[in-house]
This record gives sequence, structure tokens and C-alpha cells, in this order.
Amino acid sequence: MAKVEVDLSSIPEGKNVIIKWRGKPVFIRHRTPDEIQEAKSTNWKTLRDPESDDARAKNPEWLVMLGVCTHLGCVPIGEAGDFGGWFCPCHGSHYDISGRIRKGPAPLNLEVPQYEFSEVDGKLII
Ligand code: FES
Repeated sequence: MAKVEVDLSSIPEGKNVIIKWRGKPVFIRHRTPDEIQEAKSTNWKTLRDPESDDARAKNPEWLVMLGVCTHLGCVPIGEAGDFGGWFCPCHGSHYDISGRIRKGPAPLNLEVPQYEFSEVDGKLII
């Protein structure tokens, strides 16, 4: 299985990076303390696709998700939408700072792929 390594030290806090993995975009966001706080304080049990932020980000500083809208597969735009996360311009789905669907036609949260952090150098391995 092809793995991709990402050097997280090159991604400053508050920035998004998009990499390609198995032909798909993967969004990596280095979240700020305020964003983490917001993601964790959301009452997730009432959301359309109920998932806690803890279940989505094993290290809360780093959010890693497939950049594929769960409606019909467009690539959402970062730092956009009504919930401070991502916005899909195709039909207007809004995702929050944990990548959870909050408004619009998408049925599910942005998918979190399998990944790990290297113990040696802290790199992200997807
Ligand atoms: Fe994203 Fe339809 S593909 S809202």
C-alpha cells in the first residue's frame, strides 16, 4: 500500500495544506487553540453525522481528512463557509473546523483516512 509522509514542521499554525494521496486530495490543517476549542465545544450529538472532535483528530492540533465532499465528490474550499471550516461550492455544503457537515446537502462528515504520526520525527504518515 502506498504511503505518503508529510513533514508537519513546514505547516504553520492556522494553515491548510492539500496533498495528493491515492489520487485524492487530503486536507491537513494545523489548527489554532481557538479552533480546537470550538471543535471540542460543539454539541456534536445533535449533528447530522454525530462524531466528536476527539474521534476525528487523534492529535487535536492536526486535522487530516479526505478533501472530497460527501455529497457528490467535489473538492471543498478551506477557510470558508458559515462554520469556519470548509465550503463546497458545487451545491453549498458547509463543514466545520472538525470537517463535520453542518449545513447543505452532504450526508456525512469529511472522511478521516487512516494515518499515524511517526515516533521518530513526528512526520504524518498516511
Ligand atoms: Fe459538495 Fe454537492 S458535491 S455539495
